[in-house]
Amino acid sequence: MKYINKKLTIEKVNFQKIANKFGTPFYSYSYSKLKENITNFKSSFKTFSPLICFAIKSNTNINLIREIRKLGLGADVVSIGELMLALKAGINPKKIVFSGVGKTSTEISFAIEKKILLINAESLSEIKEINRIAKSKNRTIKIGVRLNPNTDAKTLNQISTGKKENKFGVNKNTFYQIVNYCKNSKNVDLKCLSVHIGSQILDNKPYEKMLRTVSKILSEINYEFEFVDLGGGMGIKYSNSSKKLNYKKYNSSICKFLDKHKVKIIFEPGRSIIGDTGTLVTKVIYIKDSGRKKFIILDAAMNDLMRPALYGALHKTLPVTKSNLMTKKTYEFVGPICESTDKFITLKRFQKLKEKDLIAICDVGAYGMSLSSNYNLRPRPVELLVKGSKIKVIRKRQKYKDII
Ligand code: LLP
Repeated sequence: MKYINKKLTIEKVNFQKIANKFGTPFYSYSYSKLKENITNFKSSFKTFSPLICFAIKSNTNINLIREIRKLGLGADVVSIGELMLALKAGINPKKIVFSGVGKTSTEISFAIEKKILLINAESLSEIKEINRIAKSKNRTIKIGVRLNPNTDAKTLNQISTGKKENKFGVNKNTFYQIVNYCKNSKNVDLKCLSVHIGSQILDNKPYEKMLRTVSKILSEINYEFEFVDLGGGMGIKYSNSSKKLNYKKYNSSICKFLDKHKVKIIFEPGRSIIGDTGTLVTKVIYIKDSGRKKFIILDAAMNDLMRPALYGALHKTLPVTKSNLMTKKTYEFVGPICESTDKFITLKRFQKLKEKDLIAICDVGAYGMSLSSNYNLRPRPVELLVKGSKIKVIRKRQKYKDII
């Protein structure tokens, strides 16, 4: 995205033109950014060519998943719905891993039928259930076990998953117990140790600690794993001041790990693949002066983009048409929803805005549309994929008749 003649432009089209044609709010994604992210990710870890399974939960648009599949990625799914979606998008079942703490018997049964690569289990009870279902189908199923490495990912508390107080994975003792159980079970074949310590990780240290913990367990245990699934979590640069995860460093920690352990690496990235490809464009409905600040009331709300309300997450917010006239007042960008948490960002410095101006909320490709809802009975926005000067509707704006 860049300004051309003061107009914010995605690939070769400016947002104003898109808004004129499709209305607001809308999500738009840049194909070239998506391609660039996947190419970068692959080349950063090319020394050990991992299996890269896109975390579908970060974005469930089937057209985007098809593009991601064409660029060579598999899928990490966490529900039968996501599994159906990944299969419908044409992802090879042998490139699909199924994570999650509470898979139902129906979900396990479906995953077994579809012959996916791995079911990554998160408790002994789940493994017993997989074993029972596999036995009834006279099959042996490849599984992984998610270890909780008790590692602080040093990210937002709400998106941290690898500490012992988090519900995810099993502790070391249970892990050993599970390995023994699997050795004696005919219908589950334990192939993978998996970990995922959290999301939006910017610091390499938590990953290094996680690798040390996994390495220690693999050295202690008398068991050969074919895969180690390191999950996702690679953070992106939401603000100009924040850093980005250092892939080079992460790659060299993994290479060191692989010198000791002959396993194939799986990754489950979501945000790092799709996060910075997406923008939410919204229109200023009203401007309300409250004395100390001005409320910029937008036509997008927390139902369209939940991250600020849910985690206090901040997304870069830009004017679609640039001017040099600055406001003297603080602007608080809010949506029309009847909740005080329905606000996106408060900015002390911004260009002077007027009603009907367009605003771009950046880096919303991951956990933007996928966390959206119909709260206040608001239809979900249209999603557009931009390739050069071409714009393709990849999900229609919901109609009132669909939601009433
Ligand atoms: N694998 C597992 C098992 C996960 O639970 C997740 C994310 C991922 C992979 C992908 O993580 P990523 O590469 O996208 O960080 N809604 C929150 C993020 C929740 C992440 C949940 N799990 C947000 O908007 O920040």
